[in-house]
Amino acid sequence: MNTIPYLIDSHCHLDRLELSKHDGDLSLALDMAKQNGVGHMLCVSIGLKDYPAMLEKVMPFPQVSVSVGVHPNEQDGIEPTVDMLVDMAKNKKVVAIGETGLDYFRSEGDLDWQRDRFRVHIEASKQTGKPLIIHTREAREDTLAIMKSEKANEAGGVMHCFAEDWETAKQALDLGFYISFSGIVTFKNAKDLQEVAKKVPLDKMLVETDSPYLAPVPNRGKPNEPAYVLFVAEKIAELRGMSLEEVASITTNNYKQLFKWDSTSL
Ligand code: NI
Repeated sequence: MNTIPYLIDSHCHLDRLELSKHDGDLSLALDMAKQNGVGHMLCVSIGLKDYPAMLEKVMPFPQVSVSVGVHPNEQDGIEPTVDMLVDMAKNKKVVAIGETGLDYFRSEGDLDWQRDRFRVHIEASKQTGKPLIIHTREAREDTLAIMKSEKANEAGGVMHCFAEDWETAKQALDLGFYISFSGIVTFKNAKDLQEVAKKVPLDKMLVETDSPYLAPVPNRGKPNEPAYVLFVAEKIAELRGMSLEEVASITTNNYKQLFKWDSTSL
């Protein structure tokens, strides 16, 4: 048993998993994760309307941490304030603020509201001391500009599901941020991203599934789940010329460092 690596899925949406393979039972998906060496996962919030149901779903599982926040594309009618996020982050299970950031791909028009929402999350993160989970899509310049102007470096956090270029990674790293790789890094056409994955300092690297989205090769196109973070870690190991065990132990330690999480606190 001790040959199984201890991996952490640093970003998944457990309340959205496609569970037909597991008879609709989340605990069976988490069992399969465990069999693949995935001992812990961070279930990331997308909106506040669904939040109570998400919390209720994961509450029975000590191996699951959560975040609180509203995705840049989410418009479920509940706009977060700093006070709201700070208050919700008091729950012991909450280790991060997000996911937040900017997404100009899926939203159109005047996006001041998206930028304002991002600023609210950064402030909440600074007040709570819980790191940011940042999503950026077709908005790299504005994302970095707001991170700088709002001093997101004081909060710290992770650029999740990273799919940008090295220059963007470098600027985020300079602000003290971690870079998290998802199944995208396993895709054949992701050569540029694979180059980034070779260069990110080992002590700043995380792995994630972003499940149920973006399943890694060999399951590309199928519903994703936390167990498959193993394939992401294997790809990183291959790219870096390292063993899977090394990648697992490094990314797990990084996760513990960033989210101030340790298994003994469960
Ligand atoms: Ni996500």
